Formats: sequence, C-alpha cells, structure tokens
Amino acid sequence: MVVLGIETSCDETSAAVYDGERLLSNVIFSQVDFHRVFGGVVPEIAAREHLNKLPVVVDEALSKAGMGFGQLGGIAVTYGPGLAGPLITGLSYAKALAYALKIPFAGVNHLEAHLLSPFLEFKEMAFPFIGVVVSGGHTNIYFARGIGEYELIAQTRDDAAGEAFDKAAKMMGLPYPGGPSVSAAAKEGDTKKIIFPQAQMKAKGFDFSFSGIKTAVLYYLQRNRKKLEAGEVSINDVAAAFQKAVVRAVVNRLRAILAVREAGIIAVSGGVAANKCLKEELEKLGVEKKIRVFVPSLLLCTDNAGMIAYTGYLYLKKGKSSDMGIEAVPELKI
Ligand code: KG4
Ligand code: ZN
Repeated sequence: MVVLGIETSCDETSAAVYDGERLLSNVIFSQVDFHRVFGGVVPEIAAREHLNKLPVVVDEALSKAGMGFGQLGGIAVTYGPGLAGPLITGLSYAKALAYALKIPFAGVNHLEAHLLSPFLEFKEMAFPFIGVVVSGGHTNIYFARGIGEYELIAQTRDDAAGEAFDKAAKMMGLPYPGGPSVSAAAKEGDTKKIIFPQAQMKAKGFDFSFSGIKTAVLYYLQRNRKKLEAGEVSINDVAAAFQKAVVRAVVNRLRAILAVREAGIIAVSGGVAANKCLKEELEKLGVEKKIRVFVPSLLLCTDNAGMIAYTGYLYLKKGKSSDMGIEAVPELKI
C-alpha cells in the first residue's frame, strides 16, 4: 500500500510518500523565514502558509515518488500534538483528499511518529527499545515494547529541551531558530570557562527540568556583563556551557534509567537529536554500556512527513483507519 503522509503541526509544511518498504519522497517546506522577524512561530501565519503550500508540497512529493493520486492506497496525517490552527489545516486537507480519492486515512500522533522514525533509517532497529524524544515541545523517554505499546519513563516538568535551546538563544542574542544557532556558537566556545549547575530532582523518578539551566544562563549574562564586554568570556562560551549542561542532563538521566532497565537499543529522535554534541555523548554512552544507539539523520530528526507516512502505514496496514469525525488534539499525549 502506498501512503501519502502530511505534516503541519508547527512551522514545517511537509508531504511524503512511503510504499511499505521505503520512503520514495520526503518534501519539507520550512516557514522559518516568515516567523524569524517575530522571534518565534506565529500560529495564524503558520496555518495560512500551510494552506498556501500544502498543494505545492503534495504535488512535489508525488512527482518525486513517480506517483499520481490514483496510486495512493491511504493517507496519514498528524492530528496532534501541535498548534491548533496548523493541525486543523493539515487534517482538513487530508480528510478532503481521502474523501475525494475514496481511500482510508489515519490520524497520526506526531510524538509516536518521532519515536518510530529511527526505523526508517536503521535496518537493525527493533523492539523493545528505549526511545528518547527531544523536540521543541517534548522531552520524553519511553520504553517501547511494540507498535502502540509505549511506557513513559521520564518527561520534563517544565521546558522541553528544544524550548530551552530556543529561549537561551534569545537571551544570548543569537538568531532564531535557537537550537541550530546555539549549537553553532557552542562549537566555537570553550566548555571549561563556565559551568552551569545540573538540575537536581529531589523527588523519585527520572523526570527532567530545564528551567533551572535557563535561569542560570540569564543570571550569568546579567552578572557578567563587564567580563563579556572585555572579551574575557564570549557568548560562544556561554552557549557551549549551556549545551553541555542540557546534554549532560539527558545523558545522565539515561544512565540512571539503564541502571534499572535492561535494554539493548536507545533510539533518539526529535529536533534536538540534530544536535551533534548530544549525538556524540549518546554514542559514548552506548560504547560504555554496550548498547546500540540510533540517531537518524537531520531530515528525519526534525519535523517531516516521512515519519508520519511510515507510522500511518503501520496502522492502515492493520486496517486501523480514522473516521471523518476525528479532530485535531493540540495536547495529544502518547
Ligand atoms: O521536532 P522538531 O522539529 O519540532 C517539534 O516537534 O517541536 O524540534 C524543533 C526543536 C526546536 O526547539 C529547535 O531549536 C531544536 O529542535 N533544534 C535543535 C537543533 N536543531 C533543532 N536543538 C539543539 N541543537 C540543534 N542542532
Ligand atoms: Zn516534532
């Protein structure tokens, strides 16, 4: 069955074609230029641009795959979590297309799609695995036993890792979007000049907290203006120390989880998985614990319809489709 995937949960308009074995296309139109002047995603603008770009992106995904609408056997579309307007735009488009083509469609949980995205790239991926979803809206660690069988082991109590990157970038005066610009600055910085404290969670469990690291950056910048002006420390050093603190928090939580959970695979996904420092530290953890670590390439880490097409395919193949009554769920959880 050939499935068309559609993703519009935030500011990427994306369409992809999956044929049951591989991704034939994965077209992503980033709206970043529309939102940059506002320093963040404006939901109304995002929804409007999705509407403008969806037909173009879908046509391109089909033509790259060498397919026409007539060859599609199903449609997969993100129905949550995400921004309400953008989700409704993609969902309505997918429903209309499925109705017109008389084919089934599946509403896909964006988080589940991130979690399963490493299967698209690594043949050795298998259940069970520890899945780390680190994105702009979520920092969750799951124990994944099978499709639809996910146990949430850890989550963030405040900011998501990507959100912390975005907010810290703003404080440091680094350009939007924050994640890539902080990691670029960090590459030029010295990680030994500043040490930000790691969040200490007193309650039991493995949950994350990133607001403390973010506040530490704010205070550091306020209290060390002279040092920064004199060039004794640079914004690159602050970025390097911040990135190190966030990466250490994720790696240490995983180390603690591995002490009590047996696992042979860690699979990482979501926009923050594009961070090279995180990837390197996780790979070191993998060597230390003799565990395979899978981090997909950039295109599959950040928001893309390829992972939606793949996840939707798994459900459609089992005959599990959605009905026209399905609505967008901005706060959808796994
Ligand atoms: O998965 P994603 O594309 O969208 C959501 O579902 O949220 O993740 C976007 C997040 C943003 O917060 C962005 O700043 C972060 O991923 N990000 C990064 C990097 N590239 C993107 N964070 C750290 N380092 C990066 N290289
Ligand atoms: Zn995402």
